[in-house]
Amino acid sequence: MKILAYGIREDEKPFVKEWEQENPEVEVEITDKLLDEETVAMAKGFDGVVVYQQKPYTDAVFEKLDSYGIHNVSLRNVGVDNMNPATVKKYGFKVTNVPVYSPAAIAEFSVTQLMNLLRRTKEYFHKFERGDFRWAPQISQELNQQTVGVIGTGHIGRVAIDIYKGFGAKVIAYDVYHNPELEKEGLYVDTLDELYAKATVVTLHIPLFPSTEHMLNKVAFDKMRDGVFIVNASRGPLIDEQALINALDSGKVAGAALDVLEDETKVFNHNMVGKNMTYPEFWNLNSRENVLISPHTAFYTNIAVQNMVKFSLSANKDLIETGTSDKLVKFD
Ligand code: COI
Repeated sequence: MKILAYGIREDEKPFVKEWEQENPEVEVEITDKLLDEETVAMAKGFDGVVVYQQKPYTDAVFEKLDSYGIHNVSLRNVGVDNMNPATVKKYGFKVTNVPVYSPAAIAEFSVTQLMNLLRRTKEYFHKFERGDFRWAPQISQELNQQTVGVIGTGHIGRVAIDIYKGFGAKVIAYDVYHNPELEKEGLYVDTLDELYAKATVVTLHIPLFPSTEHMLNKVAFDKMRDGVFIVNASRGPLIDEQALINALDSGKVAGAALDVLEDETKVFNHNMVGKNMTYPEFWNLNSRENVLISPHTAFYTNIAVQNMVKFSLSANKDLIETGTSDKLVKFD
């Protein structure tokens, strides 16, 4: 059995090695190249491929894999939004993801960034660098005083809720699927409008679907409380960036922590030092003292990376051996 793992970074290599030692019957080859139309030919002769990349998996790539008789594709991440479901189904691909690699990694990061917003650390750092050690006017807010509106109560949202409760914040939640435990606690509101009307913080923990694209738009921001804080460590296109810029200008939004951006794939995880970066919304948002942008780093911990590598290799092995996996993605 032979698996080719694309896009393997230095920090992933030790975990690939460990997995190989635990699964000596499987031959794993790695490449640092991403899976695209130029590199797909490398997969010839393999039984499955393991991938992670933020750029799209094009239809042409799937066509080629199909022509090599390869139909087992395992993602090292959770999001499948850069894959065309129609193409996956057309060629009979079996795709797995890693739905749970470390919910805490993302939840902890999003809470950390909210704390940074509330305590105005970006402003303090900038003042400090200039030698200005005064407190005022950066008086801060306390987390325990917030009503945190958590949108999405899957694995990550639930860990975030536990952390927020630990800090003494009031939590309200919205999801189309209700978690029975949270239901018992009475955390759910019935509508997003109700959440927008009550929350002093809105934090997103949902996937990107056509139905959730730009869910935070002008209409949504208008329904929120004045001075609301926004946290997004899920997917950039959930927020209409221009609408967010307008809401920051008007003061409707007091601050935003964005680990993801609408058009991030061309810049995040690339070394942009000395390079021209044409992304006006990025420059606008990043220039603000009340906006924290990070390059999709919430997931990036030792535990998460280890699980992403090992779980995806095991899922690919399961697909090859048994034709299925408990991590099979159901494309509707
Ligand atoms: C995902 O798992 O889908 C993520 O968003 C993390 C990714 C940057 C590796």
